[in-house]
Amino acid sequence: MPLNNLSKINGTYLPPGDKSISHRILILSGQAIGKSEISNLLEAEDVINTLRAMKLMGVTIKKVLNKYHVFGLPPGGLFQPNQSIDFGNSGTGIRLLSGLIASNNIKVNLIGDSSLSKRPMRRVTEHLSKIGAVIELKKNIYPPIKIKGTGNSVPLNFNITIPSAQIKSAIMLSALNTNGRVKVKEFKSTRDHTENMLKSMGYNIKVKEDSKYRYIDMINDKQLKTIKYTVPGDPSSAAFLITAACLKPGSKLIVKNILLNKTRVGFLKTLKSMGGNIKITNRRKIHNENVADLKIAQNKSLNSTTLKSIDVPLQIDEIPILSIAASFAKGLSVFKGLKELTVKESNRLKLIHENLKKIGVKSKIQKFDLYIYGNHELKKGDAVIRHENDHRILMAFFIANMICEKNNIIKDKSCVKTSYPTFFKHISKLIN
Ligand code: S3P
Repeated sequence: MPLNNLSKINGTYLPPGDKSISHRILILSGQAIGKSEISNLLEAEDVINTLRAMKLMGVTIKKVLNKYHVFGLPPGGLFQPNQSIDFGNSGTGIRLLSGLIASNNIKVNLIGDSSLSKRPMRRVTEHLSKIGAVIELKKNIYPPIKIKGTGNSVPLNFNITIPSAQIKSAIMLSALNTNGRVKVKEFKSTRDHTENMLKSMGYNIKVKEDSKYRYIDMINDKQLKTIKYTVPGDPSSAAFLITAACLKPGSKLIVKNILLNKTRVGFLKTLKSMGGNIKITNRRKIHNENVADLKIAQNKSLNSTTLKSIDVPLQIDEIPILSIAASFAKGLSVFKGLKELTVKESNRLKLIHENLKKIGVKSKIQKFDLYIYGNHELKKGDAVIRHENDHRILMAFFIANMICEKNNIIKDKSCVKTSYPTFFKHISKLIN
């Protein structure tokens, strides 16, 4: 791949379908009786694993031309699967479906790959046990998750103390088959696609926010309606090319049909604060989600920034690529409060720091804060990148070739299939 320090980004770009929304629309349309239709579903491994899981539990899903037709079952109507369900690399898949399964009268063993098998699940299952599901974890923390769901789950008030959309969504999905009122209090910085989609499907849900928290109130007295849903472009995937364009003055990129939910595009604000020239055009709302086009016309080099821990959830998946931007920005950048990064597909905080050092960027970690000493000079590069098959670490350090004298060595690039199978194809179309 010819991406190197002479490369600029130019052209018009249609990012792939959003991963978080793709998981959720498969799950929620699978709980609406009748036929739903999904366009632009992200056909990446994580999402396909969720699709297979829904099929194994009795939902009929067919691909017809370029759309997915989903024939849902009523809440509580999941079938007993005849095998363990494998979620591969996907934390979202395993956690969200743990929630759905917890309030169905079925017994399921949920498994994953070696990375997923090291990720903490208690944060979700401690809530689900309270509704009456019987759950076992390896060493009380990790997958496999063995769930004996309950057909008679208890309606409760939940208070979530970790900012995590996966924890919240698992609880909300368990509420679909819970008689009575379920209330959730959580940090308002987490992504709210489950809430938005439930509203679009006619569910009885009320959402309020104050300066710090979100309060969700659900009553399952209304059936989910079927839906025709077009998945908007994924900002977390587009972030790689958008950041690449901002890194290199002279780049011009138009991004079409990108999800602009405020809980997802913190990185745009961060890039703008660094001098990224990003304009938002053609704003629209589709199924309670904001969607827009972007115009990036970069005419100067970036400056450093400081990210407060309260803003981290708004760009949690974009920290790896923002760390590349910070390396090529003038001055000290500080990303505060990155504890959650240590329990992602890899320990991202550690791998970012280690790989920055390898390519020739000075950085340090203090508690969970990351300090990056950036400048506009090319880094030495020529490093063997350690990615541990973490898709976002790999993609971030592939983009880092643009700020290095010599290209880095990245062995086995296949893990991009997790979230962005067309990553390399898109890059080769947009570089010059
Ligand atoms: C996701 C939530 C986030 C994010 C992940 C997708 C989701 O995880 O990092 O990539 O779709 O709900 P947490 O909820 O654990 O922060």
